Amino acid sequence: MPGLTAWAGITQLANVGEGDTVLVNAAAGPVGGTVGQIARIKGAERVVGIAGGAEKCAIVTDTYGFDACIDYKIDGWEAELKKALPDGLSIFFENVSADMAITALDNARTYARGVLCGLAAGYQVQSQDRVPNPLPMGTIIGKRAQLFGLVVYDFYSKWDEFAGEAGKWIQDGKLAFAEDREEGLENAPALFERLMNGQNRGKAVVTVSPEKA
Ligand SMILES: NC(=O)c1ccc[n+]([C@@H]2O[C@H](COP(=O)([O-])OP(=O)(O)OC[C@H]3O[C@@H](n4cnc5c(N)ncnc54)[C@H](OP(=O)(O)O)[C@@H]3O)[C@@H](O)[C@H]2O)c1
Repeated sequence: MPGLTAWAGITQLANVGEGDTVLVNAAAGPVGGTVGQIARIKGAERVVGIAGGAEKCAIVTDTYGFDACIDYKIDGWEAELKKALPDGLSIFFENVSADMAITALDNARTYARGVLCGLAAGYQVQSQDRVPNPLPMGTIIGKRAQLFGLVVYDFYSKWDEFAGEAGKWIQDGKLAFAEDREEGLENAPALFERLMNGQNRGKAVVTVSPEKA
C-alpha cells in the first residue's frame, strides 16, 4: 500500500520526469523513500529528502540513493534546504504538515507541482489544540503551483500496473524497501507507539501466525 501511494502520487499525479527536482519529507519512511527512488528511476534530475535525525538521513542517502537529506531537527535546517535546492524544486511530496508544505512552496519554481499525501505531525494532536494553518494563497498563485490531494484507494484499479513496474525494479535492485517487523499481536501496541513517535524504521508490519490468531 505505501508503495502504491508513492507510485500513484509521483507518477500519476505529479507526472515526474526528466529535469524534475523532487523534495519529499518523512523520506526514510516507506512512502517517502519509495517516492524518491521512483522519481530517480523516472528520470528526475535531483531528489532531496527531509527526515528526522542523522540515522534516518543516512538511510535516505545511502540506502535509497537520494542526492541529499536534510535533518529538520537541527537548527538552521531551512537554510540547509535552500542550499540543497539551488535551482528550487519542481515537485514536492508532502507527508508531514502544512508548515512543511509552506516551506516546500517557498523553495518552489514557478509551475511547481505538489502532492498532498499525509499530515503525520498532526495525527496525535487533539482537535482543540490544532492550530489553523493559513493557506499561502499568494505564494501558490505567484508560483502558479498545482496541488494534488492524494487518496491511495483511488488507484487500486492500477495495482497491476504498479506491481508490474515495482516488482521489476525490486528484482533489478533499483528499488529498496524496509520493513519494521514484530511477531505476534501482543507486540502490536509497542510497534504502533514507535510508528506514532516517528521511531519506526520502515513499514510497520505485525506477523500473526494462524495458531495464535
Ligand atoms: N493519502 C494517502 O492515501 C496515504 C496513503 C498512505 C500513507 N499516507 C500518509 O503518508 C505519510 C507517510 O506514510 P508512511 O507509512 O511512509 O509513514 P512513516 O514515514 O513510516 O511514518 C511517518 C513519519 O512522519 C514523520 N513525522 C514528522 N513529524 C512527526 C510527528 N510529529 N509525529 C510523528 N511522525 C512525524 C516521521 O519521520 P521523520 O522522523 O523522518 O520526520 C515518521 O516516521 C503519512 O502521513 C501517511 O498518513 C497517505
